[in-house]
Amino acid sequence: MQKLEVPDHIAIIMDGNGRWAKRKGLPRIKGHFEGSKSVRRIVEVCVELNVKYLTLYAFSTENWKRRKSEVHALMRLLNRFLASELKNMMKNSIRFRVIGDVSLFPPDLRKNIISVESRTKSNSGLTLVLALNYGSRPEIVRAAREIAVECLKGDIQPQAIDEAVFQKHLYTDGIPDPDLLIRTSGEVRLSNFLLWQCSYTEFYFTGVLWPDFGKKELIEAITEYCDRERRYGKERA
Ligand code: FPP
Repeated sequence: MQKLEVPDHIAIIMDGNGRWAKRKGLPRIKGHFEGSKSVRRIVEVCVELNVKYLTLYAFSTENWKRRKSEVHALMRLLNRFLASELKNMMKNSIRFRVIGDVSLFPPDLRKNIISVESRTKSNSGLTLVLALNYGSRPEIVRAAREIAVECLKGDIQPQAIDEAVFQKHLYTDGIPDPDLLIRTSGEVRLSNFLLWQCSYTEFYFTGVLWPDFGKKELIEAITEYCDRERRYGKERA
């Protein structure tokens, strides 16, 4: 068997929970529940494969437009996930981090996020990043605003603003760009996810719905990634 060169950073747009539920005649919320089981499975596989960073798009800035009951159910699932996974995170030395603006999340969930981030911050294994109330455009606008304030204060000159400075103001500061981005469920778009960070990322799209995505499907994605030649603008070898 070909030896897998496992990407350091895998980002996933977990899509298709609703369709999974609909096909089975179940409420959408049940699809999200099954989706949260896939999250646990994929985290486990990433630990096993020695992936360094796993970033999951769990709640976008656009997801507030969904029915109140669905938004509440997603918040509950996130809370439950944090409560039940802390033990596993400590056991496997997983570091937990959130990107996005969680200031509008329920206070108990916010408290849990802060607590899990802080309790796992010295762990040295997989960094699990959850994108929560995350949108790439708001992230970029926020960075521009912060830099503008620094300019007005005289802390930085406009000529000194380069990619490295800009990057420091993104939520992903300190996290390397994804090597591989996976989107499940057959949709072929980025949906405001990591626009800046995915400039040179390899994309992998699969028709498999997120609740059905497991170890086999992740290995398939990594195998295809291994067959690709990443050139970063250079000529073909
Ligand atoms: C997209 O499926 C999925 C989401 C908007 C939420 C993702 C949430 C989870 C996987 C579960 C909770 C997360 C964690 C980390 C415990 P969709 O509802 O848009 O599917 P559809 O396009 O088929 O309707």
